[in-house]
Amino acid sequence: MGKFVINGGKKLKGAVEVRGAKNDALVIFASALLTSETVHISRVPEIEDIKRMSEILDKLGVGVDRSGYGKYKITADKIKTTAIDKEIAKRLRASIVLTAPLLVRMGRVDFPHPGGCVIGERPIDVFLDGYKALGASIDYKDGAYSVRAKKLHGNKFVFGSVSVTGTESMMMAAALAQGDTILKNCACEPEVESLAEFLNSCGAKISGAGTPKITIKGVRKLSGGKHTTIPDRIEAGSFLILGSILGDPIKVKKCNPEHLDSLLNVLQKSGANIKIGKNSVEVSSSKLKSVGIKTKEYPGFPTDLQAPLCVLLTQAEGQALVHETIYEGRLNWTDELKRMGADVLTLDPHRIEIRGSKKLRGREIESPDIRAGMAYMIAALCAEGQSTIDNVYQIDRGYEKIEERLQKIGADIRRI
Ligand code: EPU
Repeated sequence: MGKFVINGGKKLKGAVEVRGAKNDALVIFASALLTSETVHISRVPEIEDIKRMSEILDKLGVGVDRSGYGKYKITADKIKTTAIDKEIAKRLRASIVLTAPLLVRMGRVDFPHPGGCVIGERPIDVFLDGYKALGASIDYKDGAYSVRAKKLHGNKFVFGSVSVTGTESMMMAAALAQGDTILKNCACEPEVESLAEFLNSCGAKISGAGTPKITIKGVRKLSGGKHTTIPDRIEAGSFLILGSILGDPIKVKKCNPEHLDSLLNVLQKSGANIKIGKNSVEVSSSKLKSVGIKTKEYPGFPTDLQAPLCVLLTQAEGQALVHETIYEGRLNWTDELKRMGADVLTLDPHRIEIRGSKKLRGREIESPDIRAGMAYMIAALCAEGQSTIDNVYQIDRGYEKIEERLQKIGADIRRI
């Protein structure tokens, strides 16, 4: 599995480049199944989740060619099964985004209920309700779903919960349905907009993506196409949080500052020194003060940055409330942060209070998921002494060669 050994307490200086967004690349890989022609994707992050997605596509009989660093070519001219591999699907919740393309192309998809996950329950009711609204029938037997439809038909559908992958899946399903679809209460994340732009470049007729109402005119066929993955706003945000605590300064390059508004707002309020450029943000540490956050759908404060921001709050003066509204299990990781010396009071599964600033001490920690793993890395870089982070597979799922990139800005970190 591998471990990171980190000696903390050092200032960090230099530039770090942001990779392509995991959650954009994953859904574009899935969308390549909507066409029998070739899809070229560039700026793909070289991370474990992309390897898992490639393995699932391979098991479906779909060739994924890596033609160079971050460059992939997918041709789904033959799909040999409608069943998504159970074992890999359990490790990659994002595999749910394959259900719509398989349903559209094959008239059927079989998949397991995605397993529970450390950040909380991950239901799939919006996917099932959405496919039903487009005319699909659904069977559930022995822990697996079978969704069938000879042809999907456009309809109006209102999401019961705002869901990113749910919105993406319904856009893909409706793109090739017969007739028009109106989706309401949609997720507005940049990854949704990016997918719509890509599908439109292949011949789809989607408008309104990036707003709560999306309209889709069904077309008969999509062509192949080209896509450049958008910058990873969560990775960029994590580097900015790190820079606000330890930057001397750190320049975060190749990001889209527009996608980081809610975080930049919080960092500015906390007193961090920030210079916003066109495709970069420079940040240096200063005396920080506490700012409370409430996670929300985009453009609100992203749940995926809640953990890194909590580490910043341990280093800020004052008391702040962190309200995690999206996932009920996503504050559990703070138990270890407390053991590192943080003053965290758990109010209920969705709310904690952090009092700072407190010196953190190095510890041996296990990474429970991608984002908490990154938060532990930031905490270890701030802490006095040595930390060991175990289960770095979780970090490698979402961040490409993170230790090498952090070494370049002066971090004392080794993979063993
Ligand atoms: N929800 C339902 N029913 C559903 C689907 C979702 O009630 O059928 C609820 C969830 O329980 C949750 C909320 O809706 O409370 C939002 O979940 P959403 O469906 O938006 O999450 P997702 O699409 O499964 C994506 C990202 C996550 C990110 C969330 C929220 C991908 C592949 N994953 O997940 O990213 O946390 O949106 O922004 O796009 C990560 O990258 O580490 C990660 C977990």
